[in-house]
Amino acid sequence: MKRRNFIKNASLTGAGIAVGTALVSCAENTSKEKKAIANSTIKATLPLVIATWHVINATAKAMEILQAGGNALDAVEQGCMVEEANEKGQSVGKGGLPDRDGNVTLDACIMDEHGNCGSVVYLQNITHAVSVARKVMEDTPHVMLAGEGAKQFAVSKGFKLEDLLTEASTEAWEKWKVEAKYKPIINIENHDTIGMLAIDKNGDISGACTTSGLAYKMGGRVGDSPIIGSGLFVDNEIGGAVATGLGEEVVKTVGSFLVVELMRQGKTPQEACEEAISRIVNKSNSDYKNFQVGYIAVNKQGETGSYSIHQWFSMTKFQDGVNEQIQSDYFNKS
Ligand code: GLY
Repeated sequence: MKRRNFIKNASLTGAGIAVGTALVSCAENTSKEKKAIANSTIKATLPLVIATWHVINATAKAMEILQAGGNALDAVEQGCMVEEANEKGQSVGKGGLPDRDGNVTLDACIMDEHGNCGSVVYLQNITHAVSVARKVMEDTPHVMLAGEGAKQFAVSKGFKLEDLLTEASTEAWEKWKVEAKYKPIINIENHDTIGMLAIDKNGDISGACTTSGLAYKMGGRVGDSPIIGSGLFVDNEIGGAVATGLGEEVVKTVGSFLVVELMRQGKTPQEACEEAISRIVNKSNSDYKNFQVGYIAVNKQGETGSYSIHQWFSMTKFQDGVNEQIQSDYFNKS
């Protein structure tokens, strides 16, 4: 998968949402914030799915589930699984680039329309981290399982143990070891999470994200992707957001929760993503020129938005029969 091979698209904000199926009525919402959302005149055609980067096969799978009457939770899980199984994608699942010691370690999480969530961190030898996260959510009293405990749990649930380090990733790691330097490089495949948000025919929202994290990271490093509120947040009355890029910077601003809270205050998904990026780049000590962060978001009306620090971040959106890559607007135009 070449995520940098984007399709130029005039829309930067998810404009062009078709008028169609009205979403769930917000008539009972009483707070000022909820009214601000409910008063929007935009009605989106449902179902819809959005994802970080250029992942049209993943969004196609999610839409197949939604069109068959499946719920948003099944759609985001199965959509993310497409990328986890894609060995050519070196940032997710099988074929993900390893840490500096050659271990492929996965982080993933999932969140449903009831606010239930599950996550796994530092998971090894299991391709479908997002599905293990779902099992954590549904079959345990916990939210997060880590490392060996997460692996043992997955095995107890019937997940197959596999070697996730492919030949291509081994070769890349061997090359990296010659200098063994880590420096974030904007938009290369060493930090791009697959995050997905879907609204099903009932108007319910779910989200998921999955990643092998930063390539050649320190052993034990965990990023934003499995941290509920940082890599992903869903509030079924408001909307959802997911993050990609340098996880440390997302965690420091609790980015996805921030985007959803900004939408709660009445901002559009586009405005909320832009504000969340501005919190990162406007820090007094921000080194933003040297790393990338991107957000995508959807609100209850089905409006979508995406924004990043640097150029070439994109969102894939499948709605109304059109599965397209939408180039994101970005902050650093200097
Ligand atoms: N956003 C993925 C990571 O930093 O691990």
